[in-house]
Amino acid sequence: MATTLDGAKIVSTVEKHPFSDRVVISSIVGRPDGGACLAGQRVRVGGWVKTGREQGKGLFAFLEVSDGSCSANLQVIVDAAVADLGQLVPTGTSVSVEGLLQIPPEGTKQKIELRVEKVLDVGTVDPAKYPIPKTKLTLEFLRDRIHFRPRTNAIAAVARIRNALAYATHTFFHDHGFLYIHTPIITTSDCEGAGEMFQVTTLISGAEKIEKELIKNPPPSEADVEAAKAVVKEKGEALTILKFDKANEEAITTSVGELTKAKENLAKLEERSKLKPEIPQKDGKIDYAQDFFARQAFLTVSGQLQVETYACAVSNVYTFGPTFRAEHSHTSRHLAEFWMVEPEIAFADIKDDMNCAEAYVKFMCQWLLDKCLDDMEFMAKNYDKSCIDRLRMACSTPFQRISYTEAVELLEEAVKEGKNFENKVEWGIDLASEHERFLTEVKFQKPVIVYNYPKGIKAFYMRVNDDLKTVAAMDVLVPKVGELIGGSQREERYDIIRSRIEGMGLPLEPYEWYLDLRRFGTVKHSGFGLGFERMILFATGMDNIRDVIPFPRYPGRADL
Ligand code: 4AD
Ligand code: MG
Repeated sequence: MATTLDGAKIVSTVEKHPFSDRVVISSIVGRPDGGACLAGQRVRVGGWVKTGREQGKGLFAFLEVSDGSCSANLQVIVDAAVADLGQLVPTGTSVSVEGLLQIPPEGTKQKIELRVEKVLDVGTVDPAKYPIPKTKLTLEFLRDRIHFRPRTNAIAAVARIRNALAYATHTFFHDHGFLYIHTPIITTSDCEGAGEMFQVTTLISGAEKIEKELIKNPPPSEADVEAAKAVVKEKGEALTILKFDKANEEAITTSVGELTKAKENLAKLEERSKLKPEIPQKDGKIDYAQDFFARQAFLTVSGQLQVETYACAVSNVYTFGPTFRAEHSHTSRHLAEFWMVEPEIAFADIKDDMNCAEAYVKFMCQWLLDKCLDDMEFMAKNYDKSCIDRLRMACSTPFQRISYTEAVELLEEAVKEGKNFENKVEWGIDLASEHERFLTEVKFQKPVIVYNYPKGIKAFYMRVNDDLKTVAAMDVLVPKVGELIGGSQREERYDIIRSRIEGMGLPLEPYEWYLDLRRFGTVKHSGFGLGFERMILFATGMDNIRDVIPFPRYPGRADL
């Protein structure tokens, strides 16, 4: 994009996309003047028709074209002399067109429009068959057409916001000297110790493969094996006789060859007769030694344990990747596959952890206000009137910090005053979503950090406080969502963490390497995990987590 002074008039030019044969629509309509300064420029654009209508008795057509680069469309006018208008107007048609940008007539809302001179490419749509017709579509309806969802304004806006938050995340941690560590997706340790893991195994597909093979190529019968054994015996005896008779060398060599062949054939048959389309067992249990990794393996529920190995070496790290939980939660806040951002900081305690969490959330909110306001305005207009104010509030207001004990007292007070919760409130309970939302939405009306939870309801790796009843855990609760972040100071004392693992009935063996971090050069350290989709819910005000991840996975559903 270049702007030059041409006499008294400012003339702007818009540059072609470096890796595509067109100008991106946001670089036209996304300008502060809506693109008006580009009038007179010849450009080529590409996109999909949002709405199209023929006008002037079929003499020309108006197309609203989007290439997804911004929430606004470009208005395109095509004359009947230039193209078959009937082909261009159906919603969903892709067009690549070239023409002149011009100022529209007075009274129209667009600041610029494109008068087409050449239609270069058209990807047609049969409107009778197009899966996402022009009518107002519900988000539920769109979940059944996941491959066309990104063509809608809402899902495209969420995609841009999601992208911006990912960029903000990397920027925040990069700016604070954190290394981005790629932790494994396949793991052999259960971080949360909750047993909600998806298993990774080839034993089932292996058994199925054998089953198919045996149908195609039936296994030898017992009689086949016996017959092969008889041949081996017969050939063996023949050889013995030849040797006894001191037969010539050639005859003996031939006989040895026949015996070897018979033995090979028998071995093959015996091996095939052992093939069973079953999962291998040993001592009455599944024999994982025969599985792909020679041991049980799972999809990770969190990269925390692994990223701690880097925190305990290069001090400031984070991981950001998909995590998986096989919980049967059918709520609007849970997915079976979701993305988590997990920083881990050495030489940091629970207070540092809370400070980092608060700064990071604030940074993301400010980032959206600064760089994604158009999309946020779209969300405010169509989904949640208060989403922009909520971002502003989160940026400017210190998060409320209360201990778990104080949180329970406040909830008990609320119950006394007549508030009805479905779940009973008493010290020791895991706060339910309704409690968390009461604290953040009703009581404080801003993000709340609850810290020092009872030991009994939290994971084994959280540091036991001096009261021996609570652990240095913290959850960040936000309006609209409830729990956005869960984190803690980690237990760095070898004896204590070891007895915590044992006390929870977890096997020590898979955690030996984790215990090593405490045996050798142990260090105070802390970290947290932010549910990335929950952050998008908080920002956009969307109601269902299934609509803020491109390909939602939840019980009963994994499309594409
Ligand atoms: O509180 P959680 O379970 O914490 C951990 O996994 C820690 N290992 C993180 C750490 O300390 N490094 O999960 C962290 C966050 C939750 O606060 C929530 O926002 C999100 O992950 N989350 C989910 N998001 C979507 N669907 C689910 N099923 C989720 N479970 C947790
Ligand atoms: Mg949690």
